[in-house]
Amino acid sequence: MLGSIGEDRVFYRILVESETVTGYPDLPVPASPPSGLEPVYYTAEFQDVFVRIAAVERAVLVAGMPKTVSILVAQTQSAKDAIVAQMTNRAALLGIGFFAVAAALSILTARSVLRPVNDLAEAVGRRGPHDLRPVVRSVPRELQPMVRALNGFIGRLQGALTRTETFIAEAAHHIRTPLATLRTQAETALRLTEDDAMRARIRSMIRSVDDSARSASQLLDHAAVVYRTDQRTEESLDLGSLIARVCDRFRPAADLRDIVIATQLPTQPVTIVADLLLLESALRNLIDNAVKYSHVDGQIDVRLEQDAGRAVITVMDRGRGLDGAQKADLTDRFRRGANVGDVVGSGLGLTIVREVARAQSGRFDLTERDGGGACAVLSLPLG
Ligand SMILES: Nc1ncnc2c1ncn2[C@@H]1O[C@H](COP(=O)(O)OP(=O)(O)OP(=O)(O)O)[C@@H](O)[C@H]1O
Ligand SMILES: [Mg+2]
Repeated sequence: MLGSIGEDRVFYRILVESETVTGYPDLPVPASPPSGLEPVYYTAEFQDVFVRIAAVERAVLVAGMPKTVSILVAQTQSAKDAIVAQMTNRAALLGIGFFAVAAALSILTARSVLRPVNDLAEAVGRRGPHDLRPVVRSVPRELQPMVRALNGFIGRLQGALTRTETFIAEAAHHIRTPLATLRTQAETALRLTEDDAMRARIRSMIRSVDDSARSASQLLDHAAVVYRTDQRTEESLDLGSLIARVCDRFRPAADLRDIVIATQLPTQPVTIVADLLLLESALRNLIDNAVKYSHVDGQIDVRLEQDAGRAVITVMDRGRGLDGAQKADLTDRFRRGANVGDVVGSGLGLTIVREVARAQSGRFDLTERDGGGACAVLSLPLG
């Protein structure tokens, strides 16, 4: 005990038959006396500090009489506390050091594990909208199931897109053709019938066939536009010649009602980068509306101008006008004006125009025209 004493203090007490012979008389004795030769150890408070005490008992002959002699040795515990504090500090330092090394290693490991995932994500993100080829990058073995799943998904997506395209093309053919046949036959029947009631019925049947044909055709056009919005092929187009072509296509229908389609197009080409099918669809619907809702003998003005980096297409008519309806309402799906009940239509034309404008970063507006009629403006960024 004395060897490792340091700053500690040591006390002792020797008793003969419970009587202190020497030492500190108030050093506490053990609660239960030691048995046999083994010492007992206990902790007790002595002089305001906790001390660790060892006590032994022996029978000794004193003046020929056997007496019980107890020896108590006590030691304060500051050296032990200092050792414990030192060990705690070392353990804490060791723990912090170990944690720092583990954290650095885990960051390094996480980075090296995530790098191939990031590379893969970047490679897939760089692809164009049409690129549905399978991913063939070499990746760590752990990532191979993910790449296989991704390729499976790409394959299924491609299959679904092909089926959509086929459906749109086939449905157009299989719906339009029988409806056209039905209409021809109904017209023949109308010509051969003298009975007024029957003629009225056949006329309403022809109207229904026209409605169905128009709805089917617009629904398929809309589906094609939605499909193309994701799959669009951007190409350089001369907007002037495209507008001229679409107007020419409507002239026979306009001539039947003595409607003039007047175009004002710049002599220089106005080039934009866009998807031809989408733009054609939008222009067709704008001019179709102008012709449909014009009065007999009316005039439609189609203009193309350039303004602040944009190509501005204006289609104006002197027809029945919007009757107070707002563009925001008329561009909703299947929404028609209150003043057009006598004209065949499905309410999808302006939805198509709005979606094309959005897909091509353009703007679309439809307002009443001063002096009567409607004015539709589609503006697109110049390419
Ligand atoms: N030039 C126009 N003059 C008057 N009203 C118009 C004109 N263009 C659009 N509208 C109004 O906007 C509505 C929606 O037009 P939209 O082209 O979407 O449908 P639709 O012409 O009725 O049917 P369809 O889908 O067959 O074109 C029309 O029903 C009509 O009330
Ligand atoms: Mg329309």
